[in-house]
Amino acid sequence: MKRTPIGVFDSGIGGLSILRALRIELPHEDFVYVADSGHAPYGERDNAHVIQRSRAITAHLRAECDIKALVIACNTATAAAIHLLRAEHPDLPIIGVEPALKPAVTHSRTRRIGVMATRSTLGSAKFRALVESLTGQADFICQPCDGLADAIEREDTTKVIALCAYYTGAIGQFGTDSGQIDTLVLGCTHYPFASEHLSKRVGPDVRLIDNGEPVARQTHRMLKSLSSSEVPGRYVLFTTGERTSLQRAARHWLALEGPVESLSI
Ligand code: DGL
Repeated sequence: MKRTPIGVFDSGIGGLSILRALRIELPHEDFVYVADSGHAPYGERDNAHVIQRSRAITAHLRAECDIKALVIACNTATAAAIHLLRAEHPDLPIIGVEPALKPAVTHSRTRRIGVMATRSTLGSAKFRALVESLTGQADFICQPCDGLADAIEREDTTKVIALCAYYTGAIGQFGTDSGQIDTLVLGCTHYPFASEHLSKRVGPDVRLIDNGEPVARQTHRMLKSLSSSEVPGRYVLFTTGERTSLQRAARHWLALEGPVESLSI
C-alpha cells in the first residue's frame, strides 16, 4: 500500500509540541510539518489572515504531499478555520486543538483554573462555546498572552521569563488551598516550551495542562488507514520563515536531526 503522510501545521515552532505527542502515539506514521513562521504570530492578527494562511497551507499539503489527514497544531487556527477547512475538504480527516479546559476541570480540586492563550483564541466563538459548556463546573481565569508565542519563537529567553512572570501574576494566586488556582491550561501550542519558566512562577503543586496527548489519541482514532510499516516514520519539516530556528527547535524538543526546507506559499 502507498505510504502517505499526515500533515501538521502551526504558525511556527509551537506545533512541535503536538508533533512530539503524535510521534509517540503513531511511531510508524510519516509526518510533514509546516511552520508558518513567515506569517506569524497568528494570535494577534485578524481572522481573515489566519483563515487565508490555513487554506493555503492545507491546499499545499494536499496537492504536493498527498496527506491522508491534517492536524491543525494551533489553537488559534483551529478556532478561526477548522469549520471552513472541514467543509472545504470533506474527504480529509481534520483534527484540531483547543485549550484543555475539560481535562483541567477533571484535575482541579479548587475549581479555579487559569487559562493562558492568544487573544484571538480567547475571543473566538469556539472558545466561548467551550467555556459555556462547562458552566458551573469551575471558574476560568483567562489571560491573553500577547507577545509570548513570538518570544518563544525567537528564543528570546529574557522576554519569555519576563512575560511568564507578568501573565501568571495577572492571573492571580496559585496554589492548592481553597480559593487558589491549582491548574493552569496552556492554550497555545507554543507555551509547553515555556513550561519550565511557568512552573517556577506558579510552584510545583500547580498542574500545567496541554492537549498534546489527547490530540494524538484523537488523530489515531480518526485515521482511516494506518501505516503497515514496522520502520520508524519519516519526518519532513518545512518553514515559511527562518530555517535555523525550526531546525534548532526540532533538534532540541524532538531530537530530530533532518534538514528543514524553505517553503514559499
Ligand atoms: N501556536 C499557536 C496557538 O496554539 C499560536 C501562536 C501565534 O500567535 O502565532 O494558538
